Parts: sequence; structure tokens; C-alpha cells
Amino acid sequence: MKHARSTPEGDVIDESKLTEHPRLSPGEAAQVTDYLMTLKPNDKLIAAESYTEANVSPRMGAMDFVKFKGCGGCHMDTAKDGGVSGPELYTAWQRLQPEFIASYIRDPVAWEARSIMPNKHLADGPINKLVNYLRSVGAEKEAEK
Ligand code: HEC
Repeated sequence: MKHARSTPEGDVIDESKLTEHPRLSPGEAAQVTDYLMTLKPNDKLIAAESYTEANVSPRMGAMDFVKFKGCGGCHMDTAKDGGVSGPELYTAWQRLQPEFIASYIRDPVAWEARSIMPNKHLADGPINKLVNYLRSVGAEKEAEK
């Protein structure tokens, strides 16, 4: 957040000021991954979610994500569109569990005490719709490969 600047086109990151992310060898990366997979601080939050797969039309899903819920102000839902103050979400489906996505939307602070993401106090239905929208965005990405 320290490196995000607001512009009329949305937030941009001043990359010249970023420190380089450390690089690990494949062996080290595997070790770190094994360690991270042992951390399960929020198992209960994950268990509390019940994701149901459902089809969301890409157009309606995008309208919901950007206009109605305001997620697009901070998150990209395609490689071109969306804000950059939050992590990009067009690969969310490839890297996150559906129950985690649902739980994060339900209560960002439960996952990240210093979260700047607003809690919209959404009910199960609207949360499930957003998760399924991110699934449809992810499925499009898979098809492009
Ligand atoms: C004001 C900006 C903002 C808005 C609006 C916002 N988010 Fe976020 N979101 C963030 C930030 C920043 C993070 C990462 C750290 C944090 O929580 O501060 C995040 C994290 C997430 C994550 C976890 C991503 C990951 O890679 O771990 C998901 C999923 C998510 N947001 C979905 C949504 C959805 C869906 C909406 C709309 C209902 C939304 N966000 C609205 C800023 C925002």
C-alpha cells in the first residue's frame, strides 16, 4: 500500500521503489511450500463455508463484481481491468480454494488483522455468486492455455 498512488485511471504501483522479491531455488521453494502447508490457523473458518458450484454469466458476474459490489476498484478480474491495491483475482481460481475465497469475502479481518478490504456483510448467496464469478474467470484463463 505504501507504493500505491491514486490516479484518475485507478491506483498504480510505483515499481521503482519496490524491493526485489527474494528468489528461491526449486528445492528451497518446495521446502518452504511444505512448511507453509503445515500452517492451518483458520481451519474453522474454512470448515464453516459451504461452496456450491453454479453457473454465473460472465457479463452479469462482471457487472456484479465491478458495479454492484465495488470489488473492481481494488482487484483486477482480467489481465487488463480493475484496481491494483488488492491482489489480482483473475487467477484466484488457480491458486485459492473456493472456501478460502468465500471466507475472505465474508470477513477479511478474520484472515488479515490489518486488512484494508471492506467487509460488505454479504449473505451466503451473494458470496457464492462472487466465488462462482471468479471460477468462470479462472475457467476462461484455463481455456486460453
Ligand atoms: C478497498 C479495496 C478493496 C475492495 C473494495 C475489495 N478488496 Fe478484496 N482485498 C483487498 C486487499 C488489499 C486484499 C489483501 C490484503 C488485505 O485484506 O488488506 C484483498 C484480498 C482479497 C482476497 C484474498 C486474495 C488472495 O490472493 O489471498 C479475495 C478473495 C478478495 N479480496 C475478494 C474481494 C471481493 C470479491 C470484493 C468485492 C466484494 C473485494 N475483495 C473488495 C482490497 C479490497
